[in-house]
Amino acid sequence: MKRAVLLQNRPGPGAGADDRDTLVQAAAVRKALRTLGLDTASVPFTLDLPDTASALRGAAPDVVFNLVEGGEGGGRCIHYAPALLEDMGLPFTGAGSSAMALSSNKLFAKAVLRAAGIPTPDWRALAELEGPGASARGRYIVKSVWEHASIGLGDDAAPLVDCAGELCALLRQRAPRMGGECFAERYVEGREFNVALLDGPGGPEVLPLAEMVFDGRWAEGSRVLGYAAKWEEDSPAYRSTRRSFELGPNDAALAEALTRTALDCWRAFGLCGYARVDVRVDADGTPLVIDVNANPCLSPDGGFRAALRQAGLGFEEAVMRILRAGLSRPGFPPTRKAA
Ligand SMILES: Nc1ncnc2c1ncn2[C@@H]1O[C@H](COP(=O)(O)OP(=O)(O)O)[C@@H](O)[C@H]1O
Ligand SMILES: [Mg+2]
Repeated sequence: MKRAVLLQNRPGPGAGADDRDTLVQAAAVRKALRTLGLDTASVPFTLDLPDTASALRGAAPDVVFNLVEGGEGGGRCIHYAPALLEDMGLPFTGAGSSAMALSSNKLFAKAVLRAAGIPTPDWRALAELEGPGASARGRYIVKSVWEHASIGLGDDAAPLVDCAGELCALLRQRAPRMGGECFAERYVEGREFNVALLDGPGGPEVLPLAEMVFDGRWAEGSRVLGYAAKWEEDSPAYRSTRRSFELGPNDAALAEALTRTALDCWRAFGLCGYARVDVRVDADGTPLVIDVNANPCLSPDGGFRAALRQAGLGFEEAVMRILRAGLSRPGFPPTRKAA
């Protein structure tokens, strides 16, 4: 392996902080690849797939580091990049196209979690709410089906509703700011954890468990890691949330349950290389999966890098493991039968 090509989005001039972060991530990965002694090049991913394919071929990669996060087509196109790479027969890092689609579409992900018996909060999709006899009462969080990075999650993210009609109207009203499609998930008041996973010689390893701590008066109104808390450094929400790796003396059973749940997700979705599972803990101490992130952000100030630092693992070591996992992906290269 001599030459690694980064496949990445090129955010336009009006891109938000979440999209611009893709450049920070790519610079960090590129530096690590060079430190590992690899030649690097980068190819922009566009929805003109023949054009992207020809640029990739021209860059002659031994391996492609896939950093595509949707880009111009939004979150709903995130699985196009691994699908193209699979079709071209090129070795690449991270989740394959099926795992990417199943984990990125939060409604697909809920179905996979349910089928695998992995606890996840109850939810309501629009079609169900519009049907006869639908009911909804209590606090729900309205989430995008395809978008990540807390897109569309503001101070009003988790309203209290009295009936299905009210929730239905909210979903319709918020869909445009949430990538066109959203759903409602039961709001879980409890603690929030991010569980990072990295492939290793003996399979996936769970990195130190990170708790998202909501501090101060701001947190009394809303314990949601919304867009401002993630991306707007000057906002009260950003200043009032922090990551902590300190578990309490009574958290041993919870830590075990979080570890088991994250590994169950890895297997259920068929993840590869690296991942991060977001969880809220129910009143009875059960971790409920709210978000499965294939190919989580690798920017220096992201949650995955924080977990690596806490584990004492260097970024180059992690990048090497992610490359190895991509190169030894089961079922790769695909065997094709003549029609
Ligand atoms: N069911 C839920 N109950 C309480 N808070 C939630 C729930 N789902 C999501 N959240 C909050 O919203 C944030 C973003 O939601 P998440 O599902 O992780 O989407 P994203 O892909 O945007 O990260 C979470 O980090 C959490 O703070
Ligand atoms: Mg999340």
